[in-house]
Amino acid sequence: MVARFFQAEMSMLSSTFARSSSIPFRKTLTSFNFRIAMERNSCLRIRSSLVAAFSSSPSHSRNFPIPGLEDVFVGYLFGRKKATEVAHVVWEQVIQKGDMVIDATCGNGNDTLAMLKMVTNDSVGCDGYVYAMDIQKDAIESTSSLLDQAVGPKEKECVKLFNICHSKMEEIIPENSRVRMVAFNLGYLPGGNKSIITVSDTTLSALKAAERILMPGGLISLVVYIGHPGGREELEVVEAFGSSLPVSDWVCCKLQMLNRPLAPVLVFMFKREE
Ligand SMILES: C[S@@+](CC[C@H](N)C(=O)[O-])C[C@H]1O[C@@H](n2cnc3c(N)ncnc32)[C@H](O)[C@@H]1O
Repeated sequence: MVARFFQAEMSMLSSTFARSSSIPFRKTLTSFNFRIAMERNSCLRIRSSLVAAFSSSPSHSRNFPIPGLEDVFVGYLFGRKKATEVAHVVWEQVIQKGDMVIDATCGNGNDTLAMLKMVTNDSVGCDGYVYAMDIQKDAIESTSSLLDQAVGPKEKECVKLFNICHSKMEEIIPENSRVRMVAFNLGYLPGGNKSIITVSDTTLSALKAAERILMPGGLISLVVYIGHPGGREELEVVEAFGSSLPVSDWVCCKLQMLNRPLAPVLVFMFKREE
């Protein structure tokens, strides 16, 4: 029944699930698929067995069901939630308080702010950090001003802002950093100069850098816009990169609308726990 309304394609960029290691992201998607595909009773049985299967995860001991995530995924399937909202709830399954994460395209700062809330603990101060960058000075200023409005000065100190190209991300993070997530929201700055956009060459360099610095159990997350010139080629580069990652170490997938050809495409590359 639900499948009739399901206008989105979810496909694995590297091959299908091959191992049964503890992967929160995989756990989440698997749960979701089962929930829409099964009758309620059998669904509950499967959910119980999944809980048992994953409850030994050393770093992620989250409970089922995950209401926020299910709401957003179902909302996305029915055209009521945006790709960025899906990305944020997926991040929540991976990011822990105290983590270091990278916003590779901070733009107006919405993603940076969401990440900041996930890594910091109000009572502790800067236990986690967001390294946020953008090639445009205007974007850095916009992000800075959003943070000024949304958080106090102490919390803002947990965000490090850099006016650089994301292909240089390794130059700005401290040596031997354990980076939990690198997130890209590709394209142009909303409300800004539409001719300044992410381009395939530097996006690919940045993806390679992200692959090098990401810790096991980490995530490379992308929202790829394909409505502007060059967007489709950039998606192809992203897909080719994700498809080339070894399935023994990575789980890579995308979410794409079938009947909205210009809708943004979500790509997730999850690095398995060691
Ligand atoms: C879609 S916007 C990002 C939106 C942002 N994440 C937010 O929450 O508001 C894309 C951003 O990528 C930036 N950008 C383009 N090329 C870049 C590059 N090579 N390195 C870093 N940022 C880049 C643009 O300046 C633009 O601000």
